[in-house]
Amino acid sequence: MTQAPGRLADAPSGEAPAVPHIVTELPGPKARAHIEFDRQWTSPSVPRAYPVVPVRGEGCVIEDIDGNLLLDFNAGIAVTSTGHCHPDVVRRIQDQAGKLLHYSADFYIPLYAEMCAEMARIAPMKEKCRVFLSNSGTEAVEGAIKLARFATRRQYIVAFLGAFHGRTYGSVSLTASKAKYHAGFGPMLPGVFHAPFGHVADLEWFDKVLFDKLVPPEEVAAIILEPIQGEGGYVVPEEGFIRGLRKICDEHGILLIADEVQSGGGRTGKMWAIQNWDVEPDIVATAKGIASGMPLGAFIARESLMTKWGPGAHGTTYGGNPLACAASLETIKLLEGGLMANAKARGDELLAGLRSLQSRFPSVVKDVRGIGLMIGVEFDSHERAAAVEWNCFQRGLLVLEAGHTVVRVSPPLVLTAAEAATGLRIFGEAVAEAAAK
Ligand SMILES: Cc1ncc(COP(=O)(O)O)c(C=O)c1O
Repeated sequence: MTQAPGRLADAPSGEAPAVPHIVTELPGPKARAHIEFDRQWTSPSVPRAYPVVPVRGEGCVIEDIDGNLLLDFNAGIAVTSTGHCHPDVVRRIQDQAGKLLHYSADFYIPLYAEMCAEMARIAPMKEKCRVFLSNSGTEAVEGAIKLARFATRRQYIVAFLGAFHGRTYGSVSLTASKAKYHAGFGPMLPGVFHAPFGHVADLEWFDKVLFDKLVPPEEVAAIILEPIQGEGGYVVPEEGFIRGLRKICDEHGILLIADEVQSGGGRTGKMWAIQNWDVEPDIVATAKGIASGMPLGAFIARESLMTKWGPGAHGTTYGGNPLACAASLETIKLLEGGLMANAKARGDELLAGLRSLQSRFPSVVKDVRGIGLMIGVEFDSHERAAAVEWNCFQRGLLVLEAGHTVVRVSPPLVLTAAEAATGLRIFGEAVAEAAAK
């Protein structure tokens, strides 16, 4: 059992209790009342996984509105990489908040350029890079595909079946993880094709289908991929797949865009998931874990590409906000200062534990996959995955479904060995209960 951090300990008893620490039914009375209120005012389009109402967080622990302490293996959808409210990040944000909240990148904010230089330093490309800062992952992807079209003067973009790239029109047009993301919104952005994902044999699709029957390669601007698919179900491609894509791109002058919004930020034990395959992209889109929860996105591109466009071609009022930059600079320091290594170590423990769970329940747990703290557990049905998610919640462990049959494990990178063990124990109990049905 892990100990609740001090800041949350006043919740139930004044003493640090073991986490999870459940003091009401879940959801509790205050949570249920809040959810009633929420339902009257919020857009029903917002997907709600299950009824957790967080009010405070520290490290890998969330305190809900009823004072329950929950172990967070979800990290606000793979965002709070340095844990909830890491003191160094909070201090840096508070310090910056007293100096300058906003001015806009249309002027020369020192932190903005510092942030761009830092992102360029950690980019997975050898060539010098330049950076555009946005507020979110979907904006980072939008900017990346605009740049790809602009720089190549080609119009077609290839994305992958199972991909998720965001909700704005360009990004949602690239998305192909669930039909409901397109339902009622068509037509999508023209000029987008979807390729099969993940197996080396799938790469034949490019020569045999795309370039032979649909469009010539010299009109394709970019191939965009998540090095590990996220929302589509935490799908790790076969060895050789990403390298094969790089080869196709090199043969035809096509740009390779890595959407590292979910897989980047140190989650796989390397700053960028694509580095696990030693492949250099031309453009990287990032957000989520890169700023510990402050809204920051970015696309990082080779300088030879980014310098093709000029003033006004792309811009934003808020992107690269000083508070978000302050949080991100501190986040990167923490990631490089040990959290990426911790992600790998804890990830290996979790993978081993989950694989042994799979061997106990082979007819229910169909696959365990992932790198570092980006782990997917695939079940035999959607209902089973949903039951495991719910059973975990009832025991005070927060996990989240991905795709149709997968439960993802994406805790903050500050996860301790004791927290990993507690999470594994609870996950095992949740699977056992779901398997008995
Ligand atoms: C791979 C990937 N790209 C883009 C996005 C969109 O990011 P945002 O929700 O910040 O717009 C997401 C969000 O889940 C994502 O996982």
